[in-house]
Amino acid sequence: MMRQAGRHLPEYRETRARARDFLDFCYSPSLAAEATLQPVRRYGMDGAILFADILLILDAMGRNVRFLEGEGPRVDPATKASDLARVPLEKMLSKLAPVGETVERVKAALDPSVTLIGFAGSPWTVGVYAIEGRGGTDKADSRKFGYQHPEELDGMLEQLVEASAHYLKMQADAGADALMLFESWAEGLPQDAFERWVIGPTAKLVQRVRALGVKQPIIGFPRGAGALVVDYAELTGVNAVGLDTAMPLKRIDAMLPKGMPVQGNLDPMRLVAGGPGLETRVREIIDQLKDRPHIFNLGHGVTPEVPISNVESVLHTIRGLA
Ligand code: CP3
Repeated sequence: MMRQAGRHLPEYRETRARARDFLDFCYSPSLAAEATLQPVRRYGMDGAILFADILLILDAMGRNVRFLEGEGPRVDPATKASDLARVPLEKMLSKLAPVGETVERVKAALDPSVTLIGFAGSPWTVGVYAIEGRGGTDKADSRKFGYQHPEELDGMLEQLVEASAHYLKMQADAGADALMLFESWAEGLPQDAFERWVIGPTAKLVQRVRALGVKQPIIGFPRGAGALVVDYAELTGVNAVGLDTAMPLKRIDAMLPKGMPVQGNLDPMRLVAGGPGLETRVREIIDQLKDRPHIFNLGHGVTPEVPISNVESVLHTIRGLA
């Protein structure tokens, strides 16, 4: 469980209340380390996901990120590639240094058997926030921008590749065991656009991270990619893929590279609803992915109303099958 998962926990809300605001929370290593460790403590999870946010990098690039209560994130819109080149790399990384410190603290506190996952947003997804100033449900402005000013968008994605590669290297050096790339806005892109804005920049990012000497496995999560997840898995160089709630598991399993590990894909609303259908679905997902390594996970972010007892019941079902 990751992606705003802490919100369903009372201990998370208590820790959050100690920070001035959400960004301050992310930049405070002691609070962020505490939030990272809470689900491991409560549920005995096999993996921990770093507490941070995919938009920190835009904040460090000087785009003035704000988290408005009940409205979601806002960013100063960028109109050209040079808007993302204003802050020198060294300065950007020093702004993000508290995240590295969070990783170090978590790593020191975790049992070595628990995997610590660091992460970054993928260039296109972070680029959508940079262009639109907010999350783009249909990404209309970003697509239009990319068709009208293809070189400018390529330039923005290039800036994000370079910045993200160094940010991920910092997390790897600080002790992250695996790295994840969130491509939350992959949905609805035509194949040519998906290739140019998602596959191309992700492949470059993976290459760049490897060129910086990072050996940790990289998980890519192109949410909403549909059948293009297969191209993504084959062409980007990621070591594993996350599958969203809408993926037809058996068909996708038949098409993905043999042996490639997957994550996914329980519907968080199923987790909210609970009841006997929850256990049936958990068993079905595990059964449908039994022929490849599978990290059980949700296929989308957790909502705050998820009952703790439903999470416990999912874990009970999974552990009963192990
Ligand atoms: O689960 C975790 O806490 C792991 C850390 C994590 C967060 N965000 C913390 C967070 C991770 C991996 C993310 C990823 C993230 N952030 C994504 C990619 C995944 C996805 O959901 O598609 C995106 C798009 C974001 C941007 C973002 N940050 C959004 C859309 C929101 C929700 C804003 C809202 O008003 O609900 C956030 C805030 C955020 N990031 C929270 C947490 C725990 C919630 C803050 C809170 O209410 O306490």
